[in-house]
Amino acid sequence: CGIVAYIGHREAYPVVLKGLKRLEYRGYDSAGIALMHEGNLNIYKQQGKVSELEQVTQGQNLQGGIGMGHTRWATHGAPNNVNAHPHTGSNGKLAIIHNGIIENYSSLKVELARKGHQFKSETDTEVLIHFIEDIQTHEKCSLEEAVRLALTQVVGAYAIVVMDEKDPSTLVAARKGSPLVVGIGKGEYFLASDATPIIEYTNEVVYLNDFEIAVIRNNTLQIKNTQDEVSNPYIQVLDMELEAIEKGGFDHFMLKEIFEQPRSIADCLRGRLKADEGYLKLGGIREYANRLENADRIIIVACGTSWHAGMVAEYLFEEFCRIPVEVEYASEFRYRNPVIKEGDVVIAISQSGETADTMAAIELAKSKGAIIFGVCNVVGSSISRITHEGAYTHAGPEIGVASTKAFTAQLTVLAMMALQVAFKRGTLPLTQYNQMLIELETIPSKVEKALQLNDQVKYISELFKDARNFLYLGRGYNFPVALEGALKLKEISYIHAEGYPAAEMKHGPIALIDEEMPVVFIATRDKSYEKIVSNIQEVRARKGRVIAIVTEGDTVIPEMAEFVIEVPATHEALMPLVSVIPLQLLSYHIAVMRGCNVDQPRNLAKSVTVE
Ligand code: G6P
Repeated sequence: CGIVAYIGHREAYPVVLKGLKRLEYRGYDSAGIALMHEGNLNIYKQQGKVSELEQVTQGQNLQGGIGMGHTRWATHGAPNNVNAHPHTGSNGKLAIIHNGIIENYSSLKVELARKGHQFKSETDTEVLIHFIEDIQTHEKCSLEEAVRLALTQVVGAYAIVVMDEKDPSTLVAARKGSPLVVGIGKGEYFLASDATPIIEYTNEVVYLNDFEIAVIRNNTLQIKNTQDEVSNPYIQVLDMELEAIEKGGFDHFMLKEIFEQPRSIADCLRGRLKADEGYLKLGGIREYANRLENADRIIIVACGTSWHAGMVAEYLFEEFCRIPVEVEYASEFRYRNPVIKEGDVVIAISQSGETADTMAAIELAKSKGAIIFGVCNVVGSSISRITHEGAYTHAGPEIGVASTKAFTAQLTVLAMMALQVAFKRGTLPLTQYNQMLIELETIPSKVEKALQLNDQVKYISELFKDARNFLYLGRGYNFPVALEGALKLKEISYIHAEGYPAAEMKHGPIALIDEEMPVVFIATRDKSYEKIVSNIQEVRARKGRVIAIVTEGDTVIPEMAEFVIEVPATHEALMPLVSVIPLQLLSYHIAVMRGCNVDQPRNLAKSVTVE
């Protein structure tokens, strides 16, 4: 979900509405807004997108210098008008927006119902505001005190903002487990789930920590924790340009982000790699570098696309560093009672740096004495703060829900990490190491070249856009690319797609192949090339329709595949950075041709801060 709030000298409505649009990638089942005008709360909410909320508010009273808005990704209760935020208490004087899950909401609800509270929605959030109201009534305390007392009894995750008609010039916000940023302007303050709605007004921000409460009134910001201890806000200056979060002439954020990759990969390498000098250094890995270099094994935790980047990293670390690697879905790892020893090394990969499952996996490993390295894109994000050390991917804000440039930046960082460790361990001969550095430096230009395939990929997309299923097959480093290609397609086009190791096909998916089944082979030149050629034959023999991603100049596969897409040659360990490009484009064009909302696919959210 996305949260935004404003307090200051401007009219709140336009600021909040624009903020909601910027945050819409975080959830878009329903949206709502609350405005305080002359001591009265006006609340508007609507199922669907922010634009639908905007229509509902037309002609309404939208005045007020204090306001807050929410765009929802449903957890408890269906996405409808009633379950949309803001929620109010019994007397309608208190309003709340909330991101996260209140786990003990049902026991609180029973207790409150017994006291006479009546609930309109099925949400955990409504229970929380009734709880705050109940405390306020019985303790006869201020809004901030009621919020604080309530939070000491709440189990779960939250980022909240609360407004009160009885205290009409105040905003109270709090966080535990779900992100919340305070933007500090001149005589005005902003609150948001991430910095994107804030940066056009100010680059001075305070990231709230868990259990912190922000009270904003009379042009002052006070921060305290749920134990009522006041602290000084730590103000950070953000280095983010407004243009980075706008579409810049592209039809969709996703397409813009796909085309940004030569630059985002170059940004990721900048200052870290100088191949001609044999220089490679990730500045964020210093104090604990020897722990990484001497690891007996590495555990990688991540979700979604980041997990696929982790799969590539497994191959990289095992091949170059000879360190065994396990790649884990964070959600499984955290509940499995995993075997972790003191000093074990964990790499957590997360674009947003906020994914709840990944955070929990980190906390678990940390509690058992592991050293955690983070690979995050969002600077200042929760994961970047709870890990011991790490490396940012520097891909710039990624707004499209389906991850593209963040994935290639993750691959770039992980390749650098593996090479740095291999160098220190002496597991990669120096000449090969230097060659890898040189090759890594060429990647942005090879990605640039791969992007020139756009028209060809678009043409192929037209022919396959009505397929009901897709199979993606790859081997070695291209196996995770097959998984990622399939994920991209299903995420945004809603076509069922499966990624498989090409050789595993004969143990199951081969049964699916008939003359209607498109099979995308990622079959670039590498150690297993001959093997994958045989796999292509196996598909052809069953009349499957083969689309093959091959290395430029391949003469063998064009003889057997219906379509070939040629990408520039590179070392097989870096090939995922190049071979994934046509797959991103394929999913994009197919989704557009099917009329899907590419940037905001149904049911998904960019940053999943609930488990
Ligand atoms: C969500 C997003 C995916 C992303 C995954 C992990 O499901 O829709 O694109 O790969 O979360 O997110 P993270 O921010 O941890 O990389």
